[in-house]
This record gives sequence, C-alpha cells and structure tokens, in this order.
Amino acid sequence: MASSSSSSLIAASAVVLTIILNASVLCHGGRTSTYMRTSNNNVDMPVDDPTYYVHITQGDHVGTAVIVSWITPKAPGPDGVIYWKENSTEKKLAVGKIATYTYYNYTSGFIHHANVSNLEFNTKYYYQLGLGKYARNFSFSTPPPPGPDAPYTFGLIGDLGQTFDSNSTIDHYQNDPQNPQALLYLGDLSYANDYPYHDNVRWDTYGRLIERSVAYQPWIWTVGNHEVDWAPELDENVPFKPFRNRYHTPYAAAGSTSPFWYSIKRGPAYIIVMAAYSAFGYSSPQYSWFGQEINKVNRSETPWLIVLMHPPMYNSYKSHYMEGETMRVVYESLFVKYKVDLVFAGHVHAYERSVRVSNIAYNITNGLCTPVKNLNAPVYLTVGDGGNLEGLSTSMTQPQPAYSAFREASFGHGILDIKNKTHAYFAWHRNDDGYAVMADSVWLTNRYWDPTDDSN
Ligand SMILES: [Fe+2]
Ligand SMILES: [Fe+2]
Repeated sequence: MASSSSSSLIAASAVVLTIILNASVLCHGGRTSTYMRTSNNNVDMPVDDPTYYVHITQGDHVGTAVIVSWITPKAPGPDGVIYWKENSTEKKLAVGKIATYTYYNYTSGFIHHANVSNLEFNTKYYYQLGLGKYARNFSFSTPPPPGPDAPYTFGLIGDLGQTFDSNSTIDHYQNDPQNPQALLYLGDLSYANDYPYHDNVRWDTYGRLIERSVAYQPWIWTVGNHEVDWAPELDENVPFKPFRNRYHTPYAAAGSTSPFWYSIKRGPAYIIVMAAYSAFGYSSPQYSWFGQEINKVNRSETPWLIVLMHPPMYNSYKSHYMEGETMRVVYESLFVKYKVDLVFAGHVHAYERSVRVSNIAYNITNGLCTPVKNLNAPVYLTVGDGGNLEGLSTSMTQPQPAYSAFREASFGHGILDIKNKTHAYFAWHRNDDGYAVMADSVWLTNRYWDPTDDSN
C-alpha cells in the first residue's frame, strides 16, 4: 500500500510539473504583431475603377525615360504619376497630358500620358497613380545602358486580341522562366474593328486585359492593319485614331515624323519599327528616314540590329501570302547591306522561322527570282499567334519552301535572349505546353560580329 501511495504522489507531481512547464512555454509563445493595416473604409472598388488600364512603353531613344499612360473613364482623375527609385524616399511627380476622342457613337475616357524621364539605367522604380483608397501602385525596371556586353531578354507577341487564347498567351508569357524584360509587340492589338461600328469599348477591354504585364514592363508597339480604324461609312476618316490617342511611342526622339515608325536602343539591341500601313515606298518620309536610320547604327555599341513590322516578308502560309512583297522589294536590299540580324513580324496567325535567305538579285529579266541562302541576310520570324478572335492560320503552301525552317499553327509567344555581342537564343513557346517548354528554339549568331551559318 505504501508503495502504491508513493507512486500516486510521484504521478501527481509529474502532472503538475507538466502543466507548469506548458504554461511557461505558452507564456513565452509567438509574437502578436502591433502592425495595424490602414483601412480604406471597406468600400468596394467602383465599377468604373478610376485609374484602370495602365500601360507603359519606352519614352526616349536610350531607355532612361518611360511613357506612363492611364485612362480614367468618368472624370479626369489623377493628373500625374508619383514615382520613386527603389530604396529611396525621394518621390517625384510627372504631370501628364489629357486627351479624349470620339469614334462614331463612342466617347473615350480621359487618356493620360506622362513622360517619366531622367531615370537611371539598370534601376527599379515604383510608381503610383491616384491617392488614398484609389491609389494603385506599379513598378518597372530600366534597361542597362546601350552597350555590347549587357545581356537582355525580349518577349515577342503579335496579334493578341482578347480571347481566352489571348489570356493564355499572356499567362504563358508572364510565367516564362526565361523572364523577358520588355516586349516587342508585332501589331494588331484589340481587333475592335471586327465588332459592329468598330466598337471602341473593345479598345478599353483590351487595355484592361494586358495591364497585368504592360503596367510593369514596356511593350514596344508596332502598328498592324487592325490599328487603321479607317471607316468612311461611319464618317471616321482619320486613320489610326484610337491607336494614336491611346498608345504613344518615342518617335520624336528617333528623328521620326510619325508615331508609327521609329527606333529605340535597349541594352545590346537597336530596334527599328516599321509601319506597313503608312507610305513606305521610295520618296516617302518613312523610306527617307529608314535609310538614314539604318546607316547610323553603331554595331560596336548595339551589336544586335532588329527590325519589327506587321506583315511578314517571308511567309509560307496561304494566309496573307505575299502581302509583304512590296515592302520586301523596297527594303530587303538594305536589310542585307546593313546585316540586320532579325526581322520579326505578325499578321499571319501562326508561327514561322526562316533560314537566312535573300531575294535581291532579281531584276525582272535575269530569271534570278528564287530566294537563295545569304549569310548577310536576317532570319525572318513570324510570331502572329497571340490568339485573337479570327483564329489560327492553319492552311500552308505545299511543299514547304526551302526558305522556311520551321512552321506551326499554334498560339504562343517568342523569347529572344541576347547573351552577348555574338550569341542570342530564340525560343518559341506554344500555349498548349507547360511554361518552360520550348516548341522551337535556335542559337543565333550576330551578323556583324560572328556571321557564321546558324540557319537550320
Ligand atoms: Fe494583321
Ligand atoms: Fe492579325
């Protein structure tokens, strides 16, 4: 009995000790944060969010400025952008200019454009539109200074539109592990003109769809046929009215007289944007400007010379077959003379990559009208497969011509990963695959510094 009583006492003591120890642990448990979130009075965001569809693009020739654009539907809203450098408390204000336009029975919201300039290279900036509960915050990073040794990664999307496929393209683009830093857009944006009366609400909804990418990294715009919006039957006689009002480009900094053709430097690349739906023939302002522009590119500073246009010059799909032919006749000899590395186009709703060819020997009577291999020629890439409501271009010319290295009618996007002044890697991703899968890829060598045969 005595032994049993002693055991009970020991057990009871152990229980008490355990409770004390547990209480001790509980008393020194996790921390309760003293941070109190600010309340915005729990008000639902307005149906017409006052600072929606924000987009940015490069704002000067070298990458130390950004054009921030935003549209407020009901009232002018914030008239400027507050911006600051990462790890800095010094905030600055860039005041924007406001414009509105009408198109048939549509009146636009207040379209703001502010040029945020004098930025430092290779730097992350934050920016804010609106104040208080209406404030929206974004960020972007400036590129390295123009120079041959800075790697840089561009994305490529064309003919995006605003379908569920478009949404998938943006999703794949944003989740691409190659981390594109800026997007080269190859024309045909909203496809508003496919709707009755060119329903310009579709320009607004397009702006909202792409905001999740284009508010954070510049999209470099190329004009396509869906930007023309010329409709004399609606008494809309000014071409490009919605695009010109909504999407600005840094054309003046490039010595251009039109927002539709211009150039930029970005890191190791010199990018010339051409306008296929403006006059481009001999004696046109665009031709004159292009000749001066391509002649002044310093490949020691920007080794990669890239041209963007909407309709492809080399296209083996039946869709838009030979539509780029007049442009090819006028410009191809300049591309070869100045050793353009890459020509990107959209328009054909599919993907295609060419080998390095030229067709510049033909003089109508000599019979030399077949494209021939030429290591001074660009690789032509069609990336018009963003996913718009017109669908894929699935019909191809047969047999596949020798100039066509790879072609496939699937929705997707491209990535141009410039490694250094001699090598770049291009990959095409289709939406049907996982984010990291490359459905087509090729190593490219620079035409000026390492003009080896990289066609395959
Ligand atoms: Fe097009
Ligand atoms: Fe298109």
